[in-house]
Amino acid sequence: MNHTVKYLLDETDIPRQWYNIAADLPEPPTRPLNPSTGQPLNPSELEPLFSRGVIEQEISTERYIDIPEPVRDIYRQWRPSPLYRARRLERALDTSARLYYKYEGVSPAGSHKPNTAIAQAFYAREEGVKRLTTETGAGQWGSSLALAGSMFGLEIEVFMVRVSFDQKPYRRAFMESFGATCFPSPSDRTAAGRTILAENPDNRGSLGIAISEAVECAMKRDDTKYVLGSVLNHVLLHQTIVGLEALRQFELADDYPDTIIACTGGGSNFGGIVFPFLGRQLRGGETVNIVAVEPANCPTLTHGKYAYDFGDTAHLTPLVKMHTLGSNFVPPGFHAGGLRYHGMAPLVSQCTDLGYVTPRAYDQKVCFEAGLEFARAEGILPAPEANHAVVAAIDAARECKASGESRAILFNLSGHGHFDMPAYVDYSAGNLYDHNYNEGDMATALASLPNVSA
Ligand SMILES: Cc1ncc(COP(=O)(O)O)c(C=O)c1O
Repeated sequence: MNHTVKYLLDETDIPRQWYNIAADLPEPPTRPLNPSTGQPLNPSELEPLFSRGVIEQEISTERYIDIPEPVRDIYRQWRPSPLYRARRLERALDTSARLYYKYEGVSPAGSHKPNTAIAQAFYAREEGVKRLTTETGAGQWGSSLALAGSMFGLEIEVFMVRVSFDQKPYRRAFMESFGATCFPSPSDRTAAGRTILAENPDNRGSLGIAISEAVECAMKRDDTKYVLGSVLNHVLLHQTIVGLEALRQFELADDYPDTIIACTGGGSNFGGIVFPFLGRQLRGGETVNIVAVEPANCPTLTHGKYAYDFGDTAHLTPLVKMHTLGSNFVPPGFHAGGLRYHGMAPLVSQCTDLGYVTPRAYDQKVCFEAGLEFARAEGILPAPEANHAVVAAIDAARECKASGESRAILFNLSGHGHFDMPAYVDYSAGNLYDHNYNEGDMATALASLPNVSA
């Protein structure tokens, strides 16, 4: 009888190429639009903001894209990440399901985010960029970029959503330990921040606002580029290393997932684990049941519109076609800060629109309850974002128990929660609540979507 708990690959098995789902979709990916003309953006129009290396990847339709050796070399520090069979959780749930999780918390920053931070910092350094600006929600992305910046000798400036800045002081300390600077957003450092603070000095911030501030700062200096930790095609591309490794690990396990589950903030850990499997399905391989899990308080896929919208609140970015709650929507200050984004990756939105993805939404309390159930069986305390994947996986395992089916369920444990202890303290003390979003605010934000005929 097989008792294997960890399916491990060797460093030499780190994939040499990322996988690009644009090559296998039945229709081409949607294109970003220039907000002033409403016309498809010329890639060169993105150059003031992004490095050329990632712009090429953003529009590529090549199925596989080489991972530069210096990036693979740094990946060796924590990759390949383990695929676990959650045998202890299976026993605790008394389920007939075979539960697997890919654990991205083994990275130095504690999540999947360094997979793209290292790549984006590499391309920037190759092009002579000196400084990078970015936003961060929970701080996982800012920490990852701080780390990547220190490895490639780049200056890093991070705008951290104020509610998370206040909730997670050690994330800022982590970023600063690697030489980055971190400001709470909205801040008085930018015109966008000052306008928002003038309207409401107590604004808790959102990823949309923090993106506006980081973009504004990047536009002001020639030696500076902006980098994004999720949403864009090239970010999801870099994250496919997760799913590509998992495909190999399922060969070791002599199994294949029936269901794949991941949480969705901007869509990058989801695309990372799902796309290599979905690509196989689109090329005639096994069909997988794919579940995207979002917070009920920021329900982009379950309640948003599939439409062109701005990626940020101050409308400095191009228009992208995505599920959106409106760029002015500010979700309540719940603890999964990395999931508080009004939009969704265009590729994830398109796959959902094509019917390949089932979205589900959960309130935060049941997510924490599931996270603790998982931790007590498996010994790993998940990030609040990852708890959304955990709760849906446990629900799927319980459905198997009820039906007697034995399905293989894979979920992405996108990060650990060691910097999120105040949230667990609140939960255990009974001080964590399921705030509802303001329906009027959402309706107003949705009513002000840009008018685009495409
Ligand atoms: C641990 C973790 N998981 C998931 C997310 C959500 O982001 P994405 O949807 O891009 O994976 C974040 C974002 O900060 C995160 O920190």
